[in-house]
Amino acid sequence: MRAGVFVGVDQPLSVETLTPLPPGPRDVVVQITASGICHTEAAVIGGHLPWVAPSILGHEVTGTVLEVGAMVTRVRVGDRVISSGLPACSNCFCCVRGQTHLCEETFNHSATPRARRADGTDIPAFAALGGFADLMTVPEISIVPVHTDLPAEQLALIGCAITTGVGSVLNTARVAPGSSVTVIGCGGVGQCVLQGARIAGAARIFAVDPVPMKRQAALMQGATDLIDPADGDPVAQIRERTQGRGTDYSFEVVGRPETILTAYDCARRGGIVTMVGMPSAESTVSFNGLGLFLDAKEIRVSNMGSSQIRSDFARYVALAETGRLNIESMITRRIALDDVNDALRAMDAGEVIRTVIV
Ligand code: APR
Ligand code: ZN
Repeated sequence: MRAGVFVGVDQPLSVETLTPLPPGPRDVVVQITASGICHTEAAVIGGHLPWVAPSILGHEVTGTVLEVGAMVTRVRVGDRVISSGLPACSNCFCCVRGQTHLCEETFNHSATPRARRADGTDIPAFAALGGFADLMTVPEISIVPVHTDLPAEQLALIGCAITTGVGSVLNTARVAPGSSVTVIGCGGVGQCVLQGARIAGAARIFAVDPVPMKRQAALMQGATDLIDPADGDPVAQIRERTQGRGTDYSFEVVGRPETILTAYDCARRGGIVTMVGMPSAESTVSFNGLGLFLDAKEIRVSNMGSSQIRSDFARYVALAETGRLNIESMITRRIALDDVNDALRAMDAGEVIRTVIV
């Protein structure tokens, strides 16, 4: 197999030939058909999300089941599957309480060696997946079978961006029809939040992003108001257009303390603020204590859209099949695995919404 290996902070991924290790009894071997490139990979490479090196990156993946371990019951050879960086074991404390996005098995498989390098060392895969490859061996709890003819590139995006973005609207914030929404950060995930707000029936959707291409894309996804931070404080711009109040909901989709505070300030008193972006391990966020009390806003956190992957993946597939969710519009580039480093650079430079390795 060929794979993109994370070899150390601030170093390019090493695209190399590896030998897959045999699957365990509850593992599944997946022939990968498409794999999206998410900001989280950049966070690992940049050292903001501590992760062991070497390991195979890639966590937004779809493919076809090639082989199953003896005890696998959830999928069969030939099934199309979508992966999830957060598994759903269905048996742990959180899973049985309907919070599979907090599954306690989440980090239990991330150290399992999955492939052997040419020098004889065995390496694991990021999030127990390893989607920057042509093949991956994963726990069965990390994949969900889907029954659809949608193109692979679209299914890959359901594995992270769609689930995170749309789920943050439908599951975490539960946006009400006719309401107002602010989305701070209109990258791959932010565009999905915008689509989620449109699907939920929000009346007014403010899209905030410094990059013109991202704001234009936001318009296509249903934004009604485009906010350029270069035109002045986004909070002031949004309050000016909402009778001084701010919006019913706000979403932070950048992953920085300062934009979390902006999102907080964009929500009206009593509004719902949802953190979608993942801040770095070394960051802290502080709020004014009295303001927090008096304004009575709710702060919610969307771990992968609070999605219950075993039922929600089918929901997102259905929305895409009927055109209510436009996944194709989010795919800026299709590339080969060998070009993964250039794709990571392009993401950093703000040139793309989503790049998919096919
Ligand atoms: N205000 C508004 N938008 C900003 C700002 C800012 N101050 N700074 C950067 N942005 C925008 C960028 O221009 C870009 O469009 O935030 C967007 C980030 O998008 P991507 O880099 O495509 O990242 P994405 O994959 O969408 O992930 C965003 O969500 O899931 C998490 O870990 C992920 O923290 C990351 C976040
Ligand atoms: Zn669980």
